[in-house]
Amino acid sequence: MKARAGVAILGSTGSIGISTLDVLRRHADRFRVVALTAHRDVEVLLEQCLAFEPDYAVMADETAAERLRDRLRAADRPVEVLAGAAGLERVAALPEVDQVMAAIVGAAGLLPTLAAARAGKRLLLANKEALVMAGPLFVAAVRDRGAELLPIDSEHNAVFQCLPPDFASAGLESCGVRRILLTGSGGPFRATPLNQLAEATPEQACAHPNWRMGRKISVDSATMMNKGLEVIEAHWLFDALPEQIEVVVHPQSVIHSMVEYRDGSVLAQLGCPDMRTPIAHALAWPGRMDSGVAFLDFARLATLEFQPPDFARFPALRLAFAALAAGGTAPAILNAANEVAVQAFLDRRIRFTAIPAVVERTLEQVAGRAAVTLATILDDDARARAAAGERVAALAVEV
Ligand SMILES: NC(=O)c1ccc[n+]([C@@H]2O[C@H](COP(=O)([O-])OP(=O)(O)OC[C@H]3O[C@@H](n4cnc5c(N)ncnc54)[C@H](OP(=O)(O)O)[C@@H]3O)[C@@H](O)[C@H]2O)c1
Repeated sequence: MKARAGVAILGSTGSIGISTLDVLRRHADRFRVVALTAHRDVEVLLEQCLAFEPDYAVMADETAAERLRDRLRAADRPVEVLAGAAGLERVAALPEVDQVMAAIVGAAGLLPTLAAARAGKRLLLANKEALVMAGPLFVAAVRDRGAELLPIDSEHNAVFQCLPPDFASAGLESCGVRRILLTGSGGPFRATPLNQLAEATPEQACAHPNWRMGRKISVDSATMMNKGLEVIEAHWLFDALPEQIEVVVHPQSVIHSMVEYRDGSVLAQLGCPDMRTPIAHALAWPGRMDSGVAFLDFARLATLEFQPPDFARFPALRLAFAALAAGGTAPAILNAANEVAVQAFLDRRIRFTAIPAVVERTLEQVAGRAAVTLATILDDDARARAAAGERVAALAVEV
């Protein structure tokens, strides 16, 4: 057995990537950072390379890769710098890599994340969009290539912890599972008067009450599309039927999700809202190790509240359930339209309330296909981006 497990972090400069490095720093005796990757943030990747001395660094952007190469050469550090999508896929499948943290945001993470699964790695999945787009391909890769798929999303990591160890082979039904209860805080606009939502700014949408995250997932949390993507993610991760997955709004984000059993028992996983807990859990699984996260103080936990989700306030949630029911490439179309709409909102080209409207129109316009292959996914993703882009142009206003 190797002395230290090799880890590659796809998206190391983002919120999840930085939290992962924080956990790894505490366990340098158990893990070795083999590869770090980013899109174009040269400064942060350089700093990470100097601190963690990986064998490889990848910049998706070719010009940024050139800059990083120069800077590392000047610092006399022997890190091999790769560029582009091919570089990302290569480090995800390196023989010296045992675990891959998939923490690129959005569809850009699909191919390298799939490459890690197909190379039979332990895949720590934060990049939920990849699974939403290509669920059947991941399920097949895990089955056929002996990969391990461990959820990093706090909700799915909580569900994983509340299920028996053999749930994947036995199936939820034989394990006595009745429902998976995904909790969600409801985001920053849970109680905002409906007639004010159209005026919401990117700054307000990104100010999540409980979690510090990247901008895209923050906006997704504000529309609750994030919870919708998580419903689809739960379907693939746990082989759960749509009617077995329920969303519960829980504003305090202390219970990260629950599993309800046939006998009436409900198992929940609790903890402070800090992504280092699920990250440490997945890195150490089936063991446990320190994460640096503060422990819950039950004497200070005043109340835990629960509410049903408001589908009128959060139409994105309804659209995600509909895409899951439609199946085939519909979830990839939903995801692509959402990425386009969220970026347009962040760029102040459309209003907050236009995000689900763009997604809904795209789902109506772009016909999905039943066959989920890499080719149909990528093609429908491109068609959805074009249709959503046209809708954004038609709706564009100064916010
Ligand atoms: N943040 C959380 O608490 C949280 C919780 C649960 C799940 N997740 C999921 O984890 C994933 C990452 O979220 P995040 O909040 O960490 O995002 P983030 O802070 O925006 O970081 C995204 C990372 O992906 C890289 N990246 C962006 N576009 C890329 C491209 N085209 N090609 C290659 N790399 C690219 C970024 O590089 P640059 O820095 O160079 O741009 C950065 O390293 C998302 O799928 C999200 O849904 C996040």
